[in-house]
Amino acid sequence: MKLSVIGCGYLGAVHAAAMAELGHEVVGIDVDERKIESLSAGRAPFFEPGLPEILASASASGRLSFTTSMAAAAEATVHFVAVGTPQKAGSQSADLTYVDAAVEALLPVLKPGDLVVGKSTVPVGTAERLAARVREAVPGADLAWNPEFLREGFAVKDTISPDRLVYGLPRDEKGAAAAKAALDEVYATALAAGTPLVATDYATAELVKVSANAFLATKISFINAVSEITDLADAIGHDTRIGRRFLNAGVGFGGGCLPKDIRAFGARAEELGLGESLAFLREVDAVNLRRRQRVVDLIVGLLGGSVHRRRVAVLGLAFKPDSDDVRDSPALDVAVQLHGLGADVVATDPEAIENARGRHPQLHYVDDVATAVEGAEVVVLLTEWSEYRDLDPVQLAERVGSRIVVDGRNVLDSATWRAAGWVYRGMGRR
Ligand code: UGA
Repeated sequence: MKLSVIGCGYLGAVHAAAMAELGHEVVGIDVDERKIESLSAGRAPFFEPGLPEILASASASGRLSFTTSMAAAAEATVHFVAVGTPQKAGSQSADLTYVDAAVEALLPVLKPGDLVVGKSTVPVGTAERLAARVREAVPGADLAWNPEFLREGFAVKDTISPDRLVYGLPRDEKGAAAAKAALDEVYATALAAGTPLVATDYATAELVKVSANAFLATKISFINAVSEITDLADAIGHDTRIGRRFLNAGVGFGGGCLPKDIRAFGARAEELGLGESLAFLREVDAVNLRRRQRVVDLIVGLLGGSVHRRRVAVLGLAFKPDSDDVRDSPALDVAVQLHGLGADVVATDPEAIENARGRHPQLHYVDDVATAVEGAEVVVLLTEWSEYRDLDPVQLAERVGSRIVVDGRNVLDSATWRAAGWVYRGMGRR
């Protein structure tokens, strides 16, 4: 099939490359010339495991191209909208400027029979509104909403082998059947592999996405709230009804999705007069943000009440491992707060330094752990990259000023660190 993917960020670039890898002919379109230049040269504009490989193989196959020109979408019959919906400045709501602009820009090249497919995370009611716009501007064209559940760090795998597919389809039977048939063809490989499919209406598809993220956020904040008393994730996680995944206590969730999605979900519910139903999400957010403050307070306490001119080594800046994304990153936030308190922060991360520096040039960044910890009075692990999990406390002890480690992700073996002479503090861990 001939597909266009509008928006080539963390979601769109992976979607475009993965669809080409699966045999479709794909054009990725973005207004950012630098991004398009990089993708056209086969270079991933951000760190995502597996993306360089599929970009290379899909580009070599001749099925994948990138451009800034919307005219290139004219060749395609299915058009994915994969632009960002960040939090609106000064508000809890989602900013739909980019989604609206993408659909408007697409309309002049849209043909009767084409299908616009929304992938961006949007407030309920958006698909209905955009579908009306598409049908009015191009009679015979239609719209579906197909939310994306990929996780950064696993984006390629999640796109090629999703754990479920959700289609939000038009209300009229004929339109729904045509849209479903087009999407079934797009996802033929995943469907043949038995991927569960939920075909539903627009509003449900929109809500499935934000509800899934809200549930995950709630699960994390639950364990973080309890870990203010003690960390018992392993004990309750053995209950298969609860499950151990997404029950890691630590410095909390961040990124470009969970934080802004729970806020937008709550804001939309309030607009619809249903604010009370989702009021608990405000507490989920508050528990999460409190984690960052707790780590800062813990470090201040460990250093005797002040971090002023005290050397603090920060390991990790990305919002999660295997990503260079620092959007709303708890790690970066903690580093910035400590710097604000006068600490001599030396921060490192395997992939996210460039992005962190772009946002916070005031911090001191170094390329490796050995340099970061040199003379440090406290070592703080904030993103659980595997190379940080595997650090040798005996070797590290030789470089630091004092053997104090704060494990902001509860991933270090406290007994081993203590045996090597370290004062170990985790999140709710003894
Ligand atoms: C999240 C969802 O997991 C995806 O399904 C969704 O498609 C995506 O948002 C999106 O809306 O686009 P992502 O933001 O990539 O994916 O990252 P997650 O793996 O969900 O992690 C989010 C945050 O939670 C990270 O900061 C992570 O460190 C934190 N986390 C995760 C915890 O603090 N504890 C855990 O147990 C798990």
